[in-house]
Amino acid sequence: MEVIIQPTEEAAVKLTARIMADQLRARPDMVFGLATGATMEAVYAELARMCREEALDFSNAKSFNLDEYIGLPAEDKNSYRYYMDHHLFNNINIKKSNTHLPNGMTDDIPGEGPRYEAAIKAAGGIDLQLLGIGQDGHIGFNEPLSSLSSRTRDKSLTPVTYRQNSIYFNPPESMPRRAFTMGVGTILDAKRIVMLVTGKRKADIVAKAIEGPITSMISATAIQMHPHVVVILDEAAAANLKEQEYYRWTFANEPCWDRYR
Ligand code: GLP
Repeated sequence: MEVIIQPTEEAAVKLTARIMADQLRARPDMVFGLATGATMEAVYAELARMCREEALDFSNAKSFNLDEYIGLPAEDKNSYRYYMDHHLFNNINIKKSNTHLPNGMTDDIPGEGPRYEAAIKAAGGIDLQLLGIGQDGHIGFNEPLSSLSSRTRDKSLTPVTYRQNSIYFNPPESMPRRAFTMGVGTILDAKRIVMLVTGKRKADIVAKAIEGPITSMISATAIQMHPHVVVILDEAAAANLKEQEYYRWTFANEPCWDRYR
């Protein structure tokens, strides 16, 4: 794992988008794993800008999102399909048919996970998985006690997640209590993982995720087992990391980061 601390949220977002864009330029038929949440909005705005102004070409790319609420149709403003269309897919030249999210409206809930897994496999697997982190340490919607080898499935959300996300719903009580999510095992199968974490409110949980013991109580700790992970933070989110000096040293000295400094 590499940890990169950027001076501001804007710099952290730009670095994340640049890494994604460089991978896409190197491999135009990239399969992206994508995340939702407020943190990612600026990343998607930056990718859209690059598509518009720098000819970043998504025409051969594919995407699979981490998760989707159960019971929300695509037109619902709180569905992750709506979020992705609005923040990214409508603003870049990706083919809509190449963008995938679990179907929150399926009438075959047990069948949806295996169907989604099969679609990821048929696409050749995920090349780069973008991740955020929830307040309770979840990745996707892998809430505490999610098996570290879990696959895509339906999952009940925790009260913490309910409090974090219901602010977007009107009324808040209309937020679904359940969601489909890629499993921790599904996420770990991605060839590369980029996690972006910004803001003071995430400082405690991200320190546990990066430097704490691996535990299913905090599914984000599972990224410690992945061979190719970079975690990008702003100063506020990095505040509780013990080994900051080491992380800064590595970023300053590793040749692979030369072009990003
Ligand atoms: C949701 C998503 C997660 C995301 C989290 C963080 O719970 N399922 O994938 O990481 O939100 O959201 P925010 O960026 O708004 O803090």
